[in-house]
Amino acid sequence: MASEYAQLDEVLAAVVDPELDLALGETSMVRSARVRRHRAAIVVALPVAAWPTADEVRQRVHDAAVAVRGIDEVSIEIAVMDDGERAALRSRLRRSMEGTGSGDGEDHAGHDHAGHDHAGHDHGGQGHGGSSSPAFLQPGSSTRVIGISSGKGGVGKSSVTVNLAVALARMGHRVGVLDADVYGFSVPKMLGADHDPIVLGDMVIPTAVHGIRVLSMGFFVPDDQPVIWRGPMLHKAIEQFLADAYWGEPDFMLVDMPPGTGDVTLSLAQVMPRAEVVVVTTPQPAAQRVAQRSAFAARKLKLSVRGVIENMSWFTGDDGTRYELFGRGGGESLAKDLGVPLLGQVPLVPSLRQGGDEGVPVAVAEANSEIALVFEALAGRVAALGPARVYRRELTLR
Ligand SMILES: Nc1ncnc2c1ncn2[C@@H]1O[C@H](COP(=O)(O)OP(=O)(O)O)[C@@H](O)[C@H]1O
Ligand SMILES: [Mg+2]
Repeated sequence: MASEYAQLDEVLAAVVDPELDLALGETSMVRSARVRRHRAAIVVALPVAAWPTADEVRQRVHDAAVAVRGIDEVSIEIAVMDDGERAALRSRLRRSMEGTGSGDGEDHAGHDHAGHDHAGHDHGGQGHGGSSSPAFLQPGSSTRVIGISSGKGGVGKSSVTVNLAVALARMGHRVGVLDADVYGFSVPKMLGADHDPIVLGDMVIPTAVHGIRVLSMGFFVPDDQPVIWRGPMLHKAIEQFLADAYWGEPDFMLVDMPPGTGDVTLSLAQVMPRAEVVVVTTPQPAAQRVAQRSAFAARKLKLSVRGVIENMSWFTGDDGTRYELFGRGGGESLAKDLGVPLLGQVPLVPSLRQGGDEGVPVAVAEANSEIALVFEALAGRVAALGPARVYRRELTLR
């Protein structure tokens, strides 16, 4: 009998909740599990009542439990965590993001660094509440934060962001997307995010969709109401969405930036000094000049401009002829001017727009189409660039 319990506990602990992409054992979402006369009675405690993957969790728990030898029947009660359980979950999630590989674990302190002034230790004043910064924002992290920027709106910046994110995720990378285009949030709709992020006290759980995590500042502003973001407010929001959300330890964090130069770029540079920037432009020379300004603004803030993506490069007719509807050469000459590579050219395809409107990115919907391959190649090139060298003085001094 006792062994049945043990095995049941073990299999339930291994069940993965798709929203957090964590095992229930790590999130303590199994409140209790009892076996009596071949019948298992399980109580699952969800972090909040409207947990988006509740049905999936119930199904997975059921399937795992019935597979245990000696269990013939399973009953599952769905409950909601109390404040204490939720607080414990929050600190577990926060701890999981603090990372272990960067050499700043408390228990290592003093062991082998005798006499060294270890700049990576900044415990002072931290560790209370949500103020400690997650590992992925720290200097030694391998997460690449990439701002996708453009000179003006309508060039396909958001479309490129979401499809690039999907393509990176398909390559096996962990990907987060922050929609910071405060003048036109569009990422959640383009990705088909079917639920809002979950607010767990002072922590936000980004929405999981197509294998990526997404957070849009648009989720938190009232619909159809223009929001006037002043610098400090915007800065606070960006800081919170990067630092107080459960992103796990992403390999890539793509930030859909507002068009032009401005406060968001400034905030990104302050919160995330290692951030890189990729500029999206269309092929005509006029667009290229505008795009150049956003690249220069990024450079002024010592953000590393890594490359250019040209969008709407051509349209292929039924007869296979390429029509260069918006001229040609803009991406290439911008790249040359900036001294960075042209990472890719994305053709105009109706299915890309449809995919965006319907919330199923083409890189998902038509996995082996020409356009999906374009994004796959683009993702490969972005990944191959590797992290940027950091130019900021305060970091290179370490
Ligand atoms: N390569 C493309 N092929 C077809 N339609 C595109 C392409 N790139 C963007 N679009 C469409 O153009 C419009 C503007 O794109 P969007 O990504 O929202 O631009 P931005 O974020 O720069 O404002 C959207 O309707 C989008 O679906
Ligand atoms: Mg956009």
